[in-house]
Amino acid sequence: MCGIFGITAKQISVPLLLMDGLQKLSYRGYDSSGICLSILNKGLETFKSVGDVTQLRKKLPTPPPESYTGIGHTRWATHGAATDVNAHPILSEQSVAIVHNGIITNHKEIKSHLIQKGYHFITSTDTEVIAHLLHHNLASAETPLLAIEKTAAALKGRYAFVAILKSHPDHIFAFSHKLPLMVGQENETWIVSSDINSMGVNAKIAIAPSNEAFSISPNGCSLKLKLEPTPSKQEKIIQSHYPHITLHEIFEQQYIPKRIQKYLETKPFLSIPPAKKALLIACGSSLNCALLAKHWLQKLGITCDVETASELRHSSYIDRSDTTIIAISQSGETADTLICLEEILAKPHQHSITICNTPNSSMSRICDSTVFVQAGPEIGVASTKAVSCQLIILYLLSHHLASKPAQLDFASLQHCIEQSLNTPKVLNIAKNVASFKHIICIGKQQMLPIAKELALKLKELAYIHAEPLAAGELKHGPLALIDKNVLTIAIDDIGSPSIQTCISEIQTRGGAVITISPTALSEHTSGLEAIDELSAVITNIYCQLIAYYTALTLNHPIDKPRNLAKSVTVE
Ligand code: M6R
Repeated sequence: MCGIFGITAKQISVPLLLMDGLQKLSYRGYDSSGICLSILNKGLETFKSVGDVTQLRKKLPTPPPESYTGIGHTRWATHGAATDVNAHPILSEQSVAIVHNGIITNHKEIKSHLIQKGYHFITSTDTEVIAHLLHHNLASAETPLLAIEKTAAALKGRYAFVAILKSHPDHIFAFSHKLPLMVGQENETWIVSSDINSMGVNAKIAIAPSNEAFSISPNGCSLKLKLEPTPSKQEKIIQSHYPHITLHEIFEQQYIPKRIQKYLETKPFLSIPPAKKALLIACGSSLNCALLAKHWLQKLGITCDVETASELRHSSYIDRSDTTIIAISQSGETADTLICLEEILAKPHQHSITICNTPNSSMSRICDSTVFVQAGPEIGVASTKAVSCQLIILYLLSHHLASKPAQLDFASLQHCIEQSLNTPKVLNIAKNVASFKHIICIGKQQMLPIAKELALKLKELAYIHAEPLAAGELKHGPLALIDKNVLTIAIDDIGSPSIQTCISEIQTRGGAVITISPTALSEHTSGLEAIDELSAVITNIYCQLIAYYTALTLNHPIDKPRNLAKSVTVE
């Protein structure tokens, strides 16, 4: 969470470039944002605002101050409310400015030590200890880099921070510990950022090494880095006619089958051995994909467990020497999944695979194999196109692991996706859904993960209390909730008799029911038989559209739902 960005240039004034970089990072958090500029003969000048980068832009004078070095931050608040004071950059004595991502777990101890030394704290953040500690260490260290290293040595947690100093107006200093930082160069402009997507497509990039202080200036980087062109896969975020990036990403799903088919020509499964046992770990929507993949794997004869990554800890006593570990994560950076993965991979296991969407991600660096899902950058906080890609890849991978290659009809899949995206019925359903405050989403077997995914999307985008439920569980308690104020959405692809029974039990008690399935929503369902179990992807696209239009009806900020961030890099 939190996006950090620093830029230093020789002849180009950087404030607007800094703002553009922050804009591209704003999916990482948007509670507040801020920049600090190094102004020649003047020192450090800071601009901050609650809210996302568009609010910050309003605070920047026109034209912006002339500055060749600056740092910026877009925040997902962990310590301290989203206020101007707690917004980064955080300064110490007007001579050190810090932007920070991650959590400093021992910040309370450091704070009391610094208070004894006479430092005055004005924020509720854990970041302020970095600023004051660095200020303190600069007084005795021979160089700023040594001061950064001494500061980092005192910090506990997973974090990355970037600093500018009044004393070195054309330098940016940085340090990362267990959280990624990227370095980019384009001529005499150097950038440090949480994410390559914030760098220009012409920038050459490198992953900054962990646990090593470094600096950048227009003259270069203090470390010898192997800078490489940005991966060609990186696509510019297309400005489209869609009112929200999320809707754009939902509609982009029509191009997925072609992309995946092309990717398969590169034989991404080649180095992956067959499996008899698999353990799938993930969070959020990726976890729902894992739950669906479990059905496919088990049907193909592979024993499979799915675990919520944040729950699977301290399980090293389990013998996994015969198990293939599969971590699923769009970002490849989700802390809960990454930490769980690190713990599992430290012990014997058969093979490790990450299913991820982001080149150079932390998870892909520690797994034996990475399969990239080909969604292209996903910016909307709600995962949509990445979910469909993950499902298709997991379906194909399951067959590979079972040594029974899938015969997927990509043309039919594309046809079915196109049909699902053009279903006017979702608009009326969404209007109806928006009028309820409590929703139960029921599903059975392969459709239960889709019911879970719909409930997650309704919470995330529409802020509606939506609970997923295995249809069979309804009569074991939740049926007591049913009255005219509770809507049940039944995900029912195949007209399952037990779902039909549930529906009748609910209706008998005055509860409203909506059924979601390709046949219930569309007159055009040709091609579904050809895609076999991937029809779940199609049902899920209906669910995505319903959640989107429900949120639209309720006038919510769809691309950036409240309290959330795209990449959850804190535990
Ligand atoms: O990047 P990841 O796939 O690891 O992210 C996991 C979850 O945080 C993510 O899927 C989240 O649940 C989505 N915002 C849901 O739409």
